[in-house]
Amino acid sequence: MKLMVVGGGGREHAIIRSLKKNPTITEIFALPGNGGIAQDATCVDVGAKDIDGIVRFAKEHAIDFAVVAPDDPLVLGAVDALEVVGVPCFGPNKAAAVIEGSKVFSKDLMKRYNIPTAAYEVFTDAQTALAYLESAPMPTVIKADGLALGKGVIIAQDLDEAKDAVKTIMSDRKFGDSGSRIVIEEFLTGPEVSVLSFTDGKTVVPMVSSMDHKRALDGDRGLNTGGMGTIAPNPYYTPDVAKRCMEEIFLPTVNAMNAEGRTFKGCLYFGLMLTPQGPKVIEYNCRFGDPETQVVLPLLESDLLTVMQACANGTLASTEVKFSAGSACCVVMASAGYPEAYEKGFVITVDEGLDGEVYIAGAKWEGDKLLTSGGRVLGVVATADTLSAAIEKAYAQVEKVHFDNAFYRKDIGQRALQAGK
Ligand code: AMP
Ligand code: GLY
Repeated sequence: MKLMVVGGGGREHAIIRSLKKNPTITEIFALPGNGGIAQDATCVDVGAKDIDGIVRFAKEHAIDFAVVAPDDPLVLGAVDALEVVGVPCFGPNKAAAVIEGSKVFSKDLMKRYNIPTAAYEVFTDAQTALAYLESAPMPTVIKADGLALGKGVIIAQDLDEAKDAVKTIMSDRKFGDSGSRIVIEEFLTGPEVSVLSFTDGKTVVPMVSSMDHKRALDGDRGLNTGGMGTIAPNPYYTPDVAKRCMEEIFLPTVNAMNAEGRTFKGCLYFGLMLTPQGPKVIEYNCRFGDPETQVVLPLLESDLLTVMQACANGTLASTEVKFSAGSACCVVMASAGYPEAYEKGFVITVDEGLDGEVYIAGAKWEGDKLLTSGGRVLGVVATADTLSAAIEKAYAQVEKVHFDNAFYRKDIGQRALQAGK
């Protein structure tokens, strides 16, 4: 089988490594991939947002199955375009990807179908939003409607910050057209849990739960990032919480999407907050999370391609999806300065005897040297029987990975360890 994976980050590297375990796969193309992915797949110089280029490549190379991983191509309709030319895909079509593509859509969906989420109001002009804020409880949360590279959410501690946020998003258009509508919502508190799930539109199979660490610095300080590390499973996600989530959130969401004529197939990501009133949805993503995937897939014991094909074919109910009982930890090594300005072009080396996986997010080859080329450079992942052992092992592997100006958090998983006590 010839496969194509659209995307080029650490998440895609983890997906490709997992897919490669299937012996029927003869070749995997990554569009565009990256320097690390090039060691596991054939990278092709077609951007993830170039839908025409993606379709042309799939036809020319008689691709048997495509995995569309990032949000942008999904929201742009890459799956629809590939299916038109007869390429089966893992991933939602454009109509279903709107669950991530528009926060207004997802909030209205949850309201209509009684799926627990933060109370909210939608605004289409800055004046009305600013007037509303005068009497809104603080802190409050302001979200751009559309995709904003994960940065379109601002938590405002007081009225001044809230007004600034509205101006930044709506008047200055910091996130472009994504800010033509905003959601202002209630500030929730509680531990956060990420649950990625496989779904074929009928059955929903949650994967092992995980916890992201979004802030740049130890102790959850510093700026928000794309994610500085993850652990799985998340100890806050107990069997009781899982049962409630399935009944109150997961199944109702899949059913709601069907009722709307927007059947969702692929990976549906639930960003949850376990509030004192119960689990609530913070956000939906229409795809695998990054860097959650880097800890979830190493724990998957079933064949990933078989599960992905079952999601596409509607046969998930009769397909085994098994995870190991172990734990995993991913420590992201970034370029010093990230998520603001940083230098790149430093040589990456990995010592012999690494006991785990290195998933590359931002690197490219120059001659025989692998050089850093992004803010988040790579994720070092280890698995073990217990969470504490996985964390210890991951940090031991970090010692074996070298590049100048490397920067990483020292406390990935510590909050989870406290919770587990
Ligand atoms: P998002 O980009 O939607 O994942 O949001 C980024 C982060 O903002 C989330 O991981 C939460 O930590 C936080 N956040 C989003 N919405 C809320 C909310 N209603 N209350 C409290 N925190 C929130
Ligand atoms: N880790 C959060 C996301 O992928 O959006």
